[in-house]
Amino acid sequence: MEIKKIGVLGAGTMGAGIAQVSVEAGYSVVLIDVVPEIVEKAVKGLNKAWAKAVEKGKKTADDVSAYNALLTSSTDINDFKDVDIVIEAIVENIDIKKKVQKQLGEICKADAILATNTSALSITEIAAATNRPDKVLGMHFFNPVVMMKLVEVIPGAVTTDDVVQAVVEMSKKIGKEPVPVKESPGFIVNRILVPYINEAAIVFQEGVASAAEIDKAMKLGAGMPMGPLALADMVGIDIVLAVCEFFVKEFADSKYRPSLAFRTKVRAGHLGMKTGKGFYDYSK
Ligand code: NAI
Repeated sequence: MEIKKIGVLGAGTMGAGIAQVSVEAGYSVVLIDVVPEIVEKAVKGLNKAWAKAVEKGKKTADDVSAYNALLTSSTDINDFKDVDIVIEAIVENIDIKKKVQKQLGEICKADAILATNTSALSITEIAAATNRPDKVLGMHFFNPVVMMKLVEVIPGAVTTDDVVQAVVEMSKKIGKEPVPVKESPGFIVNRILVPYINEAAIVFQEGVASAAEIDKAMKLGAGMPMGPLALADMVGIDIVLAVCEFFVKEFADSKYRPSLAFRTKVRAGHLGMKTGKGFYDYSK
């Protein structure tokens, strides 16, 4: 099972990054989003990043032409009909993911792999909604995709070994380090990281210190490369909240209950960097 052509569904923060590393590794990529402006913004963003790399002498104009020749963008999900794998990176909502993955199963060729970049949800549940649960798995990238080396590879209950192997190989070809993980809420990284970010938001909500002070303390006192609240803004506060809520439901343990600060910010539309405001203000 060799992957040659990749479909990426969702051209937001993660989808754009996944498309970028894939074309840079020489794969043909079809990038699709329901919102035309988002597809446009993603393609513009990639070209801006490549233009910068050319300026710095890290890439050539020929590289950029080759990347653009490999990249197709669209708003029509039917354009996935000849891809070998779809990596779905849409909103973190189990009902929407199940509906969309079912649709992908109906559109894609019979042997195509369906991967989901879910941060925490059940791969088995998503897989069961499709016509090919043996070919569905989690392929969990990290943000920013271009910089972060890890990909967690998570088989569902009936995913076959050849599917896992094909995705491990593909992950290596796009310059990532795949780590296989047994299915479990939040896999490895988010199981540990999200409760940490949540605790920081609770400390913030209690008024123990400001966001900047909390982040400074964790950077200088715990050697973290960035503070937990800046990280929440980068990940998206809606995503962190969704993961906390999923943990509460899945583990039936109140230790995961989300900070009220997350709820207030999500209700206000302050989702972090992507909306210009979160724990910090990015509008200036
Ligand atoms: P985002 O909000 O930046 O992008 C999601 C995109 O999906 C939007 O552009 C939206 O228009 C599109 N979309 C929604 N429904 C769609 C549909 N039915 N068909 C096509 N496109 C659709 O979200 P982000 O941050 O890229 O997250 C996407 C997924 O990746 C989520 O499952 C999230 O949990 C996961 N993830 C996010 C990380 C992060 O740091 N933001 C890290 C790792 C995983």
